[in-house]
Amino acid sequence: MKRPPLLVAILALSACTAPAIPADPFEASGELIAFSGGAIGARAACSTCHGTRGEGDGHLAPRLAGLDRGYAARQLEHFASGARRHPQMQWIARQLDMTARQKVVDHYAAMPGPALAANTSAASCTGARIYHEGLPARGIASCASCHGSDGGGNPGNPALSGQSAAYLAHQLNDWASGERYGDPAGAMTDISRALHRADRQAVADYAAHLRGGGDDRTVPATCLQTRRPDRPGGA
Ligand code: HEC
Ligand code: HEC
Repeated sequence: MKRPPLLVAILALSACTAPAIPADPFEASGELIAFSGGAIGARAACSTCHGTRGEGDGHLAPRLAGLDRGYAARQLEHFASGARRHPQMQWIARQLDMTARQKVVDHYAAMPGPALAANTSAASCTGARIYHEGLPARGIASCASCHGSDGGGNPGNPALSGQSAAYLAHQLNDWASGERYGDPAGAMTDISRALHRADRQAVADYAAHLRGGGDDRTVPATCLQTRRPDRPGGA
């Protein structure tokens, strides 16, 4: 394959600092790709943006550690096809062949999810209610019904715990605007469009508080009290 001159330069540069890159890209392990970008070069080193433990940057680069391998591999396909837009991720996904994608995704899937400290800060009632109960009047199912009441996800539905509120809100806004598409049944597109922008932020803020690991949550009792006031005179 003929490489553009810039890439050749990057490869030559990265050879000084990165671990030895095997001549045959099929020999590169998932770990090598994660830390050095493998045959693609340092610009594709996942750890630069996603953290050395795959924990994410706490802002717009998500955590990859412990992410379901099928989900993560599908996202790389989405970036490659343009169903998800992000200049660097699209470039990287297009450079990685199927074998390299699977290896790097397996590497992250095998890593333990981030150890999350208990979060005791007050949750927004709007976000908590949307997460656990949905908005039946607008046809929005609860997020918990798919992503779990602990936000830990399952093979069909990705974990939301361990992702930053900024990243989660960004994804919901991208679905609403059509920047991100291609989720299997279109559920996230429909849900994001049906939510007002402020509700997307509120539910993202709430979901970022979830801790996964079976730490099941329900709508906080304080929110229920304000939601169901006794009607005057009973009834
Ligand atoms: C220049 C920074 C950067 C580098 C390098 C990078 N990523 Fe990303 N990655 C991002 C950002 C930012 C996003 C979120 C994009 C969006 O908002 O859709 C992302 C998203 C992803 C996602 C989607 C995760 C999810 O929860 O949906 C996967 C999977 C991923 N990256 C894998 C990788 C892999 C594997 C590598 C290395 C081969 C890599 N990334 C290198 C910045 C980077
Ligand atoms: C019917 C099941 C279902 C429901 C209900 C649901 N989700 Fe999802 N969600 C999914 C699936 C499936 C994906 C993965 C989409 C893909 O593969 O592109 C996803 C992905 C996401 C992502 C992207 C995660 C990442 O790592 O990029 C966010 C954020 C999200 N959902 C938030 C929510 C919120 C908030 C709610 C409630 C308002 C919700 N979801 C309700 C099924 C669901």
